[in-house]
Amino acid sequence: MKQNSQYEQLEKIPTRIARDANEACREVAQEIAALIRSKSDSNQKVVLGLATGSTPVPLYRELIRLHQEDGLSFKNVITFNLDEYHGLSQKHPESYWRFMHEQLFDHIDIPSGQVNVPDGKVATSEAFEYCATYEEKIEAAGGIDLQVLGIGRTGHIGFNEPGSPPDSLTRMIALDSLTIRDAAADFQGERNVPRHAITMGVGTILAAKRVVLIAWGQNKSDVIAEAVEGPETESISASFLQRHSNATFFVDQSAASRLTRIDRPWLVGPVDWKPSLIRKAVSWLSLKQGKPILKLLDEDYTENGMSDLITPRSTSYHLNIEVFNDIQRTITGWPGGKPNADDSQRPERANPHPKRALIISPEPDNDLLGMGGTLKRLMDQRHDPRIAYLTSGSLMVPDSEAKAMAEFAQELQPEADESLPRSTLRQLEEKSEFDLDSAEIRDFKGHIRRVETRSALRRLDVQPKRIHFLDLAFYQKGRPRQFRFEEADVSAVVELLREVQPHQIYLTGIEADPSALPAICFALVNQAIERCSGDDWLEDCRIWLYRLPERSWEIEEIDMAVPISPKELTDKIQAIYHHKSQRSQSPGGDVSLREHWQQTEKNTQDLAAQYDHLGLAEYEAIEAFQRWR
Ligand code: GLP
Repeated sequence: MKQNSQYEQLEKIPTRIARDANEACREVAQEIAALIRSKSDSNQKVVLGLATGSTPVPLYRELIRLHQEDGLSFKNVITFNLDEYHGLSQKHPESYWRFMHEQLFDHIDIPSGQVNVPDGKVATSEAFEYCATYEEKIEAAGGIDLQVLGIGRTGHIGFNEPGSPPDSLTRMIALDSLTIRDAAADFQGERNVPRHAITMGVGTILAAKRVVLIAWGQNKSDVIAEAVEGPETESISASFLQRHSNATFFVDQSAASRLTRIDRPWLVGPVDWKPSLIRKAVSWLSLKQGKPILKLLDEDYTENGMSDLITPRSTSYHLNIEVFNDIQRTITGWPGGKPNADDSQRPERANPHPKRALIISPEPDNDLLGMGGTLKRLMDQRHDPRIAYLTSGSLMVPDSEAKAMAEFAQELQPEADESLPRSTLRQLEEKSEFDLDSAEIRDFKGHIRRVETRSALRRLDVQPKRIHFLDLAFYQKGRPRQFRFEEADVSAVVELLREVQPHQIYLTGIEADPSALPAICFALVNQAIERCSGDDWLEDCRIWLYRLPERSWEIEEIDMAVPISPKELTDKIQAIYHHKSQRSQSPGGDVSLREHWQQTEKNTQDLAAQYDHLGLAEYEAIEAFQRWR
C-alpha cells in the first residue's frame, strides 16, 4: 500500500487525522454526497452501509444539512445498517432502527422501502435464515458501495466481537462484557443491556467497495493504533480492514494520539525536536531502558532512533540534565503558588496570595477523583477554593438508592400524606427500569448527591459555603450521550465566573469522547470563558486541566505535579467514599465507587512511581495538571 509519508510507514490502513470530529465528518459527507450525485446522474442506485453509536451522529447531521441546504437527494439511496440489538423492537428507545430514524432517515428524502436495519425481534431459531436473507438482499442491491463504520473499545466493527473471523457473514452474536459495559449508560444499567445482537460479519464489511471508519476521543486511541499498526487479528476485528484495498480511517487528534507518528515520531523519521517532544522522548527512553534519566548514555539514544538529539554540543550528559531539570520544575507542593518565594521556575506564580481558585466539576465527585489532594492543599495553604458542580449528577443515582432515601425521609414524617418523599416513592415504584426519571425523581436524586457532596467535602475541611451547585438545565432535561447545552447553560457559567473572578480555574474533559458529559462540559465552559474575554480578572487567571480516572497524564503533558502524602491520599479516598449512592451498580455505567477510587489511587501512585523511575524524588502519589493557554 502506498504511504503518504515515511511517518506513516507502520500504518497499514490509510489514516486521516482531522482537527476535530466536525472537520472529519465534513470530508466524509462530501465523499458520500459526490458518490450519490455521480450515481444519480446516471440513474443508478447507491448502496450505503450505515453504523450507529455516538460517533456517526455529527456525520448524519452534516448529511442532513447537505440535504436541507444543498439539495442533496437520497431518493436513489438504499441503506443497510450494520447491526441491531437482539430482543429490541423497532419502537424500543435504544433500538438501532429508532436511532437511525431519529438521527437521519426522518430528516432526509429516502423512501422508507429502501432502508434496511436488521430485525431485532427475529426468533433465535430463525436467526440463521434471516441473516442469510439479509446477505442476499445486500447482494441483490448490487453490494455495498460505501460502508460507514465506528469502532467499539473491543476493536469491533458492527458487533463483530473478538473472535470474529475475517470471512464471517451476517449472524447472531453474543456481546462482549466491555461492549455491554459501554452500552450500560444507554440502557439505565448494565443488566438491561441485551446480551446478543444481529450483525453483519467482517466478511460482509470487507465486501464493500469502499470502507470509511470514523473514531473520536482518547477512549478509542489504543484500539485505533492496534487496528492500524498491529497485526491482523481476530481479537480486533477492525484490523482485518488492513486487507481491504479501499478503506480509510478518519480520526480526530485524540483518537490518533497512540499512532506511532504522533506518539513516538522519532521512530519513523526525522523530527522537529520541540521541548515537549524532547521531554517525551527522553522520559520514554528512560522508562524503556529501565534507567534514571541522569544515567542515560549516548548509546541509549543512538540505539533508539534518537541519535539526532545527541550532537557534539549536546551530549547525552547535557541533554539528561536539561530534561531532568525540566521535569523537576513541574513538581510543586504549592498548587496555588508559594508566597514570598522566587517563582521564576515554578508552575504557578507566587502572587496574589491567597488565590481564588474555581474548581469546575462536571458532576459531583469528579473534583475529588481528579484533584482531591490538591483541593486539600489549597485549603491548607489558606487559599480560597470554590467548587462548582455543573450538573446535579442525578442520572447516576440508582433507583434502589433513591427508594431507600425516600423511605427514610418518609419514616421521619409518617403522618404527612402528601409529602415529597411519599410521592417520589410512589413514582419510583411505578416506574420500570427503562423509563426515564420524571422531573420529580431527578430532583430527588439530585438532592441525594448534594447531601453526599457536602459530607465528602467536609471530610477535607471544605465548608458548604464554598460549593456552587449549578444544576445546569441541559443535564436536567437530557440523557447520557445525547446532551446538548444551550445558551442558558453558558450564561449561568459566565455569571459564576464573573461572580468569583478566579485567579485559577481547574477544568477537565478536554480530550474526552465528544459525546461524554466531561467533553460537553468542557466545551460549555470554554464558551463561557471566551464570553469573558476582555474581563480584567481573566487577564490574571491561569487555567489548569485535570483528568478523570479513565485516563492518566503522560510525563510530557504535565506542567504541574503536586505530590500527595500518604495521609492526604487516605483523606482523599475517604472523602470520595462519602459519595455513597455511587458505591453500588450505578445506572450510568455500573462502575462501582470502589472501582473509581481504586483507579484514581492507582493513577496517582503510578505517576509517582514514574517520577521515581526517572530518577526524581519518590512520592506516595502525584496529582498532575496541564496549563491550558
Ligand atoms: C456499538 C455499535 C458499533 C459502534 C460502537 C461504538 O457497539 N454496534 O457499530 O461503532 O458501538 O459506539 P460509539 O460510536 O458510541 O462509541
